[in-house]
Amino acid sequence: MVEALITVRRARSQDAKEIADVHDAAWRDAYRGVIPGRELERMIARRGPDWWHQAIERGSRLVVLEFDESIAGYATYGRNRVPNLPYQGELFELYLAPEFQGLGFGRRLFQAARRDLSDHHYPTLLVWALADNVRAVNFYERLGGTVVRRAQERFGSEMRDRIAFGFKDIDA
Ligand SMILES: CC(C)(COP(=O)(O)OP(=O)(O)OC[C@H]1O[C@@H](n2cnc3c(N)ncnc32)[C@H](O)[C@@H]1OP(=O)(O)O)[C@@H](O)C(=O)NCCC(=O)NCCS
Repeated sequence: MVEALITVRRARSQDAKEIADVHDAAWRDAYRGVIPGRELERMIARRGPDWWHQAIERGSRLVVLEFDESIAGYATYGRNRVPNLPYQGELFELYLAPEFQGLGFGRRLFQAARRDLSDHHYPTLLVWALADNVRAVNFYERLGGTVVRRAQERFGSEMRDRIAFGFKDIDA
C-alpha cells in the first residue's frame, strides 16, 4: 500500500502562493452567507501571496499541513490579544482547503499549534470563532474547548456574534 506523506512544518517563503489559495478557498467556503459578501471579498483580496510572503518573512508563527506535496491547510498563532482573559496563547487562524476537511487534518494542525505555543511558555490558549460558523464551533467543542466569552464583531455596517473557546494547560 502506498501512503501519502502528511507533515506539519513551519511555512517557507515559497509557500506564500499556495497558502493564499487555501485561504481564499477556505474563507469562501466557511463564510459565504455568514460575512456580508462585499466585506468577505475585501478581506480575501487583502490576503494575496504578497501579504503571506511578508507574514512569513516577519517570522510570524505560521505552520502548514502538507499532504502529498500540496498545502492542505495552515494555522497561525501567538500571544493572546485579549489581556483580561486568563489565557496565554491564541490560535489566530486555522483553515483547511474544503477538499481536505473532515480527514483529521484540523485536529493535527490544532495540536501542532498548541504544542508549539506550550513549548514557548504559552501553555493555555484561546480561539475565536464566528457563532454562525457551525463547523468551527462544533470542532472546537469536540476538541475540548469551553466557551469563555461571547462578543460581537463588525463587518462593514453589520455585526456578527463571535465566541471564544478556552483550552487549559496542555500538560495539566
Ligand atoms: C474547522 C476545521 C478546521 C476542522 O478541521 P477538520 O480537519 O475538518 O476536522 P477533523 O477532521 O480534524 O475533526 C476533528 C474532530 O472534530 C469533529 N468535527 C469536525 N467537524 C465537525 C462538524 N462539522 N461537526 C461535528 N464535529 C466535527 C470530528 O468528528 C473530529 O472528532 P473525532 O476525532 O473525535 O472524531 C475545518 O473544517 C476548516 O478548515 N473549516 C473551514 C475553516 C474554519 O471554519 N476554520 C476555523 C475558523 S475559526
